[in-house]
Amino acid sequence: MSDLGAPAAMEGQGAYNRNARVQAHAVRGALALWDAAAGAVPLPAGAGTVTLADFGAATGQNSLEPMGRAVAILRQRLGPSVPLSVVHVDVPGNDFTTLFETLRTHPQSYLARDPLTFALAAGRSFFGPVLPPDSLTLGWSSWAVHWLSRAPCPVPDHILAELSADAAVRAAFAEQAAQDWRHFLESRAAELQAGGRLVVMTIASQGEGPAYVPVLTAIRDGLEDLVAAGTLARAEAEAMVVPTVTRNATAYAAPFCGADAVAGLRLLEFTLVAGEDPIWPEYEARGDAFAWAAQWVGFLRAAVFPTLALRLAEDTPARRRGFFDQLEQRAIARLARSPAPMAVHFAHMVIAKDGGGAP
Ligand SMILES: C[S@@+](CC[C@H](N)C(=O)[O-])C[C@H]1O[C@@H](n2cnc3c(N)ncnc32)[C@H](O)[C@@H]1O
Repeated sequence: MSDLGAPAAMEGQGAYNRNARVQAHAVRGALALWDAAAGAVPLPAGAGTVTLADFGAATGQNSLEPMGRAVAILRQRLGPSVPLSVVHVDVPGNDFTTLFETLRTHPQSYLARDPLTFALAAGRSFFGPVLPPDSLTLGWSSWAVHWLSRAPCPVPDHILAELSADAAVRAAFAEQAAQDWRHFLESRAAELQAGGRLVVMTIASQGEGPAYVPVLTAIRDGLEDLVAAGTLARAEAEAMVVPTVTRNATAYAAPFCGADAVAGLRLLEFTLVAGEDPIWPEYEARGDAFAWAAQWVGFLRAAVFPTLALRLAEDTPARRRGFFDQLEQRAIARLARSPAPMAVHFAHMVIAKDGGGAP
């Protein structure tokens, strides 16, 4: 599959910000750990600037709360005269324009609250080096590390490899997920200062299998509907894949254990939490299955459709727009047939670099 297997950036033009309510709800669950990390991380002695990073920032809306809280806590600890840098990391194709507009205009932006904090960006994959060695005091990553660096092979029978009937396909994706998580951690091990901390939240499995199967299956069925309607070629649909993996606790813990553990890092805390379905109460109150399904498909449209669209043989702006809108409508219609609360788990991790007097 070569580099065609790499995922695309989120849908641009502010679409991710507008559709990130589910993510925002889950991010809040990890904020207590994040606040504690900001309060406990050793501060570099005599540092000119203290650096925070946000790995997988997208267009910034869901970064405002965690970055704002960390800036406030660190400001309290550092006093008024130490500059802080916040580096928002994402892939080169990310909509960095919307990210910086969000930081400039949003009333909750840390830029509006702390004049000695500076927003920077790095357009580079977090599966490799992004920041200078030993420069990072505190890192955050939400809803990002379940994306793989690439799809290692085609998945003709589903858009999600974990739902493929082919065991070899499932194994290839599990192996890619293991390598990518290790590369993510090795890169952060080099960037963190002694005692520096990293807080990661992402989807996880407690044995129930991949997250959001009903929505992803509705999207797969929507693709079949488009093939049947003649607006999508069968070869295009079969080439479409979402390179994400829902790891379990063992997979997340693996690079911290045994003789080939990633050097210099410790997993200080690992919690699996049951995620609430933030949309279900509205469905219970109103009984509108279509509105319920529209919100869930909207949640994945901004994140997943751009990667599916990479496989459109003829990818003009008009065809892409039509593909997004038609697929959204078909997937909503499919999902609305069987409303049920969306069960999902999240992993919350606190990772520390050795040294710096950290516990
Ligand atoms: C679902 S969004 C999460 C945005 C935000 N952190 C949140 O909590 O809502 C995932 C982001 O991770 C980014 N991402 C995925 N793989 C990446 C990689 N290898 N390097 C950098 N960013 C990546 C995507 O481009 C996307 O912007």
